[in-house]
Amino acid sequence: MKEVLLAGQKVPAIGIGTWHMGDVPAREEQGIQAIRNGLDAGARLVDTAEMYGSGRSETLVGKALQPYKREDIFLVSKVLPHNASKAKLERHLDQSLRRLQTDYLDLYLYHWRGRVPLKEVVSELERVRQAGKIKAWGVSNFDTSDMEELWQLPAGKNAAANEDLYNIEERGIEYDLLPWQKEHELPLIAYSPVGGRQNELGTTMLRNKVVQKMAEQHGVSPYVLLLAWIIRDGRTIAIPQTSDPDHAAANVQAGELELTGAELSSLDQEYPQPTTKEPLSIN
Ligand SMILES: NC(=O)c1ccc[n+]([C@@H]2O[C@H](COP(=O)([O-])OP(=O)(O)OC[C@H]3O[C@@H](n4cnc5c(N)ncnc54)[C@H](OP(=O)(O)O)[C@@H]3O)[C@@H](O)[C@H]2O)c1
Repeated sequence: MKEVLLAGQKVPAIGIGTWHMGDVPAREEQGIQAIRNGLDAGARLVDTAEMYGSGRSETLVGKALQPYKREDIFLVSKVLPHNASKAKLERHLDQSLRRLQTDYLDLYLYHWRGRVPLKEVVSELERVRQAGKIKAWGVSNFDTSDMEELWQLPAGKNAAANEDLYNIEERGIEYDLLPWQKEHELPLIAYSPVGGRQNELGTTMLRNKVVQKMAEQHGVSPYVLLLAWIIRDGRTIAIPQTSDPDHAAANVQAGELELTGAELSSLDQEYPQPTTKEPLSIN
């Protein structure tokens, strides 16, 4: 299984997304089983947020993790921008910890930039880290200029990751953000790796003939092939979300699939790298 160095830990490059999980009570057991299947197949990182279902996703994750040793899981949650102030952040972190039935997070992300000054957010994240409530903090939906601003702050360089939208149809961040992150040894957590909710309508990447043929040759689904493509550089973790226990186990296979140089070139022909700066894609 391909691994990525994240906040001082080697973490399998396929993690587990959880947005929308917990929204439908009748599907709770299935969602829990999907998370467990992913973990049993070799994933370790679980990504959630206080925003997802106003805490329902964190509650479901807390239940799903009960049979596991806490130290075997790399748990990520996120604070909403308007809760990231000195007055509110710690209270919101405590609520997340309660829902998740744990006393620490491995990584706490600032979900996206809001009105609270970045300096204040960073100083609060540092404070709760030093208090032992989180092992590390990071950011999400940051572009290159945001990262540069962050790096100017006294503790800004303590950020352990940036989580952004990235998939083969949305390669914009390869232009300057990914080179910046490589230079600064900051791993990427790639969200919506298989196109997010759009794919319920069938995104073009899943119907692309080259993708489909390559997947068939490897004996995997197009989803798994596209996940292997995302984690190809050894510095990126993909966090596909699924409520289907079989899909969850299948997705982890992507961590074992190495694409050849020729395969990567033919995918580049279908989905060319960006040649100019593009606005950051968000979901
Ligand atoms: N930081 C942020 O701002 C941000 C924003 C968006 C998302 N995220 C995180 O990233 C995670 C993933 O992103 P996402 O949920 O937007 O989209 P995604 O993982 O790209 O797509 C989710 C969809 O893919 C389907 N799927 C996944 N694996 C599959 C497989 N092997 N075969 C068939 N279908 C498959 C799922 O359907 P089935 O249930 O039928 O398998 C689901 O409808 C989120 O859950 C969340 O944790 C973060």
